[in-house]
Amino acid sequence: MIVNTELESKGNQFPSNIVNFQKDVDKLYFYTDNDVILELTVVRDSVLRFRYTTVGNFDNDFSYAITKYASIGYNKLEIDDKKDCYEVLTSKLRCEISKESLRVSIYDAIDGFLINQDEIGFHWEESYQYGGNIVKMSKISNDGESYYGLGDKPNHLNLKGKRYNNWVTDSYAYGKDTDPIYKTIPFYTGLHHNKAYGIFFDNTFSSSFDFAQERRNVVSFWAQGGEMNYYFIYGPAMNDVVESYTDLTGKPHQLPPLWALGFHQCKWSYYPESKVKEVTSTFRKLKIPCDAIYLDIDYMDGFRCFTWNKEYFPDPKRMVKELAEDGFKTVAIIDPGIKIDKDYAVFKEGLENDYFCKRADGAYMKGKVWPGECYFPDFTNPEVRDWWSSLFKELIEDIGIKGVWNDMNEPAVMEVPNKTFPDDVRHDYDGNPCSHRKAHNIYGMQMARATYQGLKKYSHPKRPFVITRAAYSGTQRYTSSWTGDNVATWEHLWIANIQAQRMSMSGFGFVGSDIGGFAEQPSGELFTRWVQLGVFHPFFRVHSSGDHGDQEPWSFDEDVTDIVRKFIELRYELLPYLYTAFWNYVDYGTPLLKSLVLYDQEDVQTHYRTDEFIFGKQILVCPIQEANAKGRRMYVPRGNWYNYWTDEVVKGGKEMWVDADIDSMPVFVKEGAVIPKYPVQQYVGEKEITEITLDVYYKNGKEKSELFSDANDGYDYIKGRYSLRTFSLTGRSNELIINQHKEGKYITPYNIFEVRIHGLPFEITEIQVDNEIVSIDLLKSNGTQTIKVDKNFSELHVLGNL
Ligand code: NOJ
Repeated sequence: MIVNTELESKGNQFPSNIVNFQKDVDKLYFYTDNDVILELTVVRDSVLRFRYTTVGNFDNDFSYAITKYASIGYNKLEIDDKKDCYEVLTSKLRCEISKESLRVSIYDAIDGFLINQDEIGFHWEESYQYGGNIVKMSKISNDGESYYGLGDKPNHLNLKGKRYNNWVTDSYAYGKDTDPIYKTIPFYTGLHHNKAYGIFFDNTFSSSFDFAQERRNVVSFWAQGGEMNYYFIYGPAMNDVVESYTDLTGKPHQLPPLWALGFHQCKWSYYPESKVKEVTSTFRKLKIPCDAIYLDIDYMDGFRCFTWNKEYFPDPKRMVKELAEDGFKTVAIIDPGIKIDKDYAVFKEGLENDYFCKRADGAYMKGKVWPGECYFPDFTNPEVRDWWSSLFKELIEDIGIKGVWNDMNEPAVMEVPNKTFPDDVRHDYDGNPCSHRKAHNIYGMQMARATYQGLKKYSHPKRPFVITRAAYSGTQRYTSSWTGDNVATWEHLWIANIQAQRMSMSGFGFVGSDIGGFAEQPSGELFTRWVQLGVFHPFFRVHSSGDHGDQEPWSFDEDVTDIVRKFIELRYELLPYLYTAFWNYVDYGTPLLKSLVLYDQEDVQTHYRTDEFIFGKQILVCPIQEANAKGRRMYVPRGNWYNYWTDEVVKGGKEMWVDADIDSMPVFVKEGAVIPKYPVQQYVGEKEITEITLDVYYKNGKEKSELFSDANDGYDYIKGRYSLRTFSLTGRSNELIINQHKEGKYITPYNIFEVRIHGLPFEITEIQVDNEIVSIDLLKSNGTQTIKVDKNFSELHVLGNL
């Protein structure tokens, strides 16, 4: 990979003076006298788009990343033609564009603070070999500035001092320093002086980011072709930056079906049918909750997608039905490589309709994957995507598969040095024909999109469930994802933790790792610790390559089985809490996991923390990441927190030791939180939920919590058939009040809340529900006080003596 920066190149060119300015509604054009034009779009008061050309006119404006549902519109737009610069003013930002150099400086409009400033700013180098330019941008890095984001980079959460490349790559057994790996998310958040902003460089060519590695006070990013085209997103809260970025590139198009948030068991491969059944029935026998079972490539006939190996799976429809009757949803893998085989229907159709990718001179793009020599659909062609989506009819509608797992979609090609297509392969790019240099990073995304389209159609009226390995910004609209082929080592547990947090702050929340490690075999201890972490990852799946032994929860020893069961049960209890967090993500783009810096950016102690994170809004988690640990030191963020296991309250803002033997892990709940819980089920839908537990954590003060419920599948919630309950807690030294606000038309199957109050500092003398005194028929157990109330209460008032 060629990696040029502004310093390494002798051929850099720069914009000259601005000679003209034009405004076209929300677009401002700054013309220079050497054909460079800056197009500045005011997307929102806090979001500006910068786009540069060097040839006097712009290419067709097309992006796979930006969603048509992105919010646009601003409250204020004023332009001032000053002596040395143009000044663009919105209600949130003031942006100066230097007349001499086209350099940009962006200030907070309210307090005048300089948030972001070009160093050299835009410059470029002509690419004789490919045509076009290598486009470059450099900006000032402020003292004390930190950087976060960039998707799945397996390294320290804070990107400062590092350089990264974005080129979607199949990375078997990658390590902490491997770069790039599977995903390209060219979005980062910068944070300095308590103010956060984001930069999304929407360029699909191979791109690079240098976070003050090459030069201490400079951040730069560049790409091997295309346009310098980036969005500047202001916070100043980091959470708002992430939400705005997610708004631009899209939230998931719908909630996942609730079962997809349950536990998934996978291996390469479970076959034949009797093996699949043995695994699923062991889950039921041992009473370990599980919702999904996976079929890896061996279910196919000679690895031909959309076929079955009839020897292993003589009657897939019957099997899938029987599994479903036992509560298991079957998920099947589908790869992009289509076996070259004139007797194979999918291949024939693809060929006849000219759906496969071709080389520059017209030959087919031929490459080896599992089935041997393959051709590859051009998923960047909308007609091909339609065709591909239609291929799922039988699998989903007839056979009853509930989810599809897209793998190898970087696209991965075996036995070639660059592991993927050569640069010259042609793509339609939705009517903007181009080479693989431009389409590579979005190929997997477009495959997942086509798969999603098929599942959405054929799963209807249920919701689709798709998983992808490769992704570009915006892929979160269609699919969940996992972090690829990791290894069964403690370091990889650390990496998994980082990656899930990093993906979450890169707008892609529905992510998890191969629990236990894909390559090699974990010890029972490592497996247990990894499951513990997985409970708090949105996508919760055990997967392994199968070459090194088994990785089912019972494959180690009985203690492991028991602890793993206990933690998977915890996940099932927390489903309504996670589902509520998911609804916040789908509706507002709120990250599902919050690294401590995202949770409390004003506390500088959080800027370099990597291990602790907030799951949803109110649960603090810190995985154990080494062998033989009886606990660990961790940083507890500011505020008071209840130890989940002991109810002991700790005051945060400091590092502390937390006990966590192998059957435990550090988990804390924010004081004042109301955590909704389900009873344990063996799978989602096993029981009708008639009661929900509300774990209430007393606080002397106020805190808001939410509970979102709906039918757990289908689309009725979009038509208003959901139930959103907001619990406003107010605690004083001798009383606790919970007000409930209700919204939505869904009639929940549960009618009762079992309210369990933790940490109450007074003896209860009276309880009122909606101003009526209820008898203090309280159960007391383990320090919590429990009372059952009707789900529609408006106010629960607990009074007491000091
Ligand atoms: C590579 C994937 O990353 C892995 O999860 C899968 O099991 C194998 N391909 C086989 O399909």
